Amino acid sequence: MRPSLNLRGMQVYKDMLDRDAQLALVEDVRTIAKQAPFVTPVTPSGKAMSVKMTSAGRFGWVTDGQGYRYAQSHPNGTPWPVIPPSVLGIWTTVAGVDRPPECCLVNYYGTDAKMGMHQDRDEANFEMPVVSVSLGDDALFRVGHETRGGKTESVWLQSGDVVVMGGQARLLYHGIDRLKPNSSTLLAKGGRINLTLRVVT
Ligand code: SIN
Ligand code: FE2
Repeated sequence: MRPSLNLRGMQVYKDMLDRDAQLALVEDVRTIAKQAPFVTPVTPSGKAMSVKMTSAGRFGWVTDGQGYRYAQSHPNGTPWPVIPPSVLGIWTTVAGVDRPPECCLVNYYGTDAKMGMHQDRDEANFEMPVVSVSLGDDALFRVGHETRGGKTESVWLQSGDVVVMGGQARLLYHGIDRLKPNSSTLLAKGGRINLTLRVVT
């Protein structure tokens, strides 16, 4: 499979997942959220983020008074659910590495949610890519440089699109500016789910 577009080394596979595959992933997310409910993360400065998060895999992404970190259990104490086979299959198709993901972060964006520009750099091995899956409403994905600031480029990510952030693009700043409300009928209540797969150790 070849990426449909390349944004500063970020490989975008437009429309990789068909409607049935997307619906199956939404069901998988519901199953994950039953065991590991979505929580509203708080930034190190004490502000509530606009997305809600949960995780699957050996590690999940949590926030507390100390900031962000990977943890082996949900804040409620239960271990994270396993990463669903459907999600592992996406990784195998596009990641191009021989290790499986250890974390599947699940972000839920309500209509007004966004994610500020940041780097993904809390993992031990930057040779391992980050793979991101979009479900639901369109989202404006912005990509910058390895340092904050400078000119940026953006692309609208749609339901079923998959992005691989690897190689030279692994440490680029990126974020979600905004959603396009009601642009997808996948989620009954609207909004967007993003799955982000990473090797942590
Ligand atoms: C992220 O970078 O953590 C999320 C990106 C996205 O929602 O597409
Ligand atoms: Fe990120």
